[in-house]
Amino acid sequence: MAFVLAVTGSAVGLGNIWKFPYIAGQNGGGAFVLVYLLCVFLVGMPVMMSEILIGRRGRRNPVATMALLGQEEGSSSNWKWLGGLGVLAGILILSYYSVVAGWTVAYIVKSASGVFAGATPERVSAQFGEFVGNWRLVGLSHTVFMALTIFVVARGVERGLEQAVRFMVPALLVLMFILLGYSISSGHFGEGLAFMFTPDFDRLTWDSVLAALGQAFFTLSIGMGAIMAYGAYLPEETSITGASGTVVIVDTVIAMLAGLVIFPLVFANGLDPADGPGLVFDTLPLAFGQMAGGAFFATIFFVLLSFAAWTSAIGLMEPAVAWLVEQKFRTRAQAALMVGILIWALGMGSVLSFNVLAEFKFYKGTIFDNVDHITSNIMLPLGGVAIAVFAGWIMCRNSTAEELGGAGRLYKIWRLLVRFVAPVGILFVFLKAVGLLPELS
Ligand code: PHE
Repeated sequence: MAFVLAVTGSAVGLGNIWKFPYIAGQNGGGAFVLVYLLCVFLVGMPVMMSEILIGRRGRRNPVATMALLGQEEGSSSNWKWLGGLGVLAGILILSYYSVVAGWTVAYIVKSASGVFAGATPERVSAQFGEFVGNWRLVGLSHTVFMALTIFVVARGVERGLEQAVRFMVPALLVLMFILLGYSISSGHFGEGLAFMFTPDFDRLTWDSVLAALGQAFFTLSIGMGAIMAYGAYLPEETSITGASGTVVIVDTVIAMLAGLVIFPLVFANGLDPADGPGLVFDTLPLAFGQMAGGAFFATIFFVLLSFAAWTSAIGLMEPAVAWLVEQKFRTRAQAALMVGILIWALGMGSVLSFNVLAEFKFYKGTIFDNVDHITSNIMLPLGGVAIAVFAGWIMCRNSTAEELGGAGRLYKIWRLLVRFVAPVGILFVFLKAVGLLPELS
């Protein structure tokens, strides 16, 4: 139970409520959502199981675990570089994740002050624009969020976290249902539903498919060793399949709810689904602004979302800190402080991407856009391929069957997915999206 709570805390975060709706909106809805769900169940879930079983067998930080198991399974200790890639991915993701988490922290204060009451769509968008345009304020919120994260990681992950998740996830679900009720009553629920679930494959590009795959990795916290680091604490007798199934379902339900709340609001207020990273901040305040007790619910909502982001941020920092601590020349507090300050400094690039450096664009856009793209759409999927290959091809059948509780039917399906479906699927989508595979027709 404690393990499921910790992994759920890592999985449920901004990825579900902030990122999923805006990426789905930018990629045209329906078809994207379908591909996303396929990626979650056919690739995400088996990779998550692989990460957990690797973590439990290695019982160390991701770098040391990969080195150890690489040798134990008769391959090489060079698999440690896979752990290293994860440490790096965690640092880069948290650098911009913390900035968006800072937005949610700032929105707690805004909500409590009642500024959303009766606000029009124009006003709400303008409020968001003014807020992110102010680099000092955004920088301050990012700093506050990083300080809170460093604080918990420095003290060691543990108890408090599980208690927090035990309360946070159900509370978040309740609020999502309240919002869903509002969304249904807004009169545009059907349109939102159609947008999310009517696939229009003409609008689907290989870039969108890669975005769906990347989002599946991001939202499940896989491909970078975070889940591996938690797996190291998992007792022998816990079922890995059961734990992964629970986490995947909870995570998916929350993302779907977020979409069902946000898209009807988008259509009811004449907004654009492809609005981008501000989508949640441009829509939810409208609902709160018109609801009885809106300021109260808005405040609670942003508190819960900040909390969800916080429990994910801890997972993002954990591989780097665990690795430094096991290097023996740092205490946990020193390691957390060092890693945290590095992440904070890198994050300033994302803070400035919405104001001072908004026009500084290269490759995929601003610094924020690039860090997001490179981590979610390149590093996590490639990390995922490597994890799947390791669990499916390098580890012997006996080792994995032992961890997954015997070689039954479920085991055979898992093995088929990690040996063939996940690696081939990920590489195919990846090469297609970067244009390295020719058109077939
Ligand atoms: N899964 C988290 C979210 O959806 C983000 C995350 C990614 C956390 C990778 C840890 C590792 O918000």
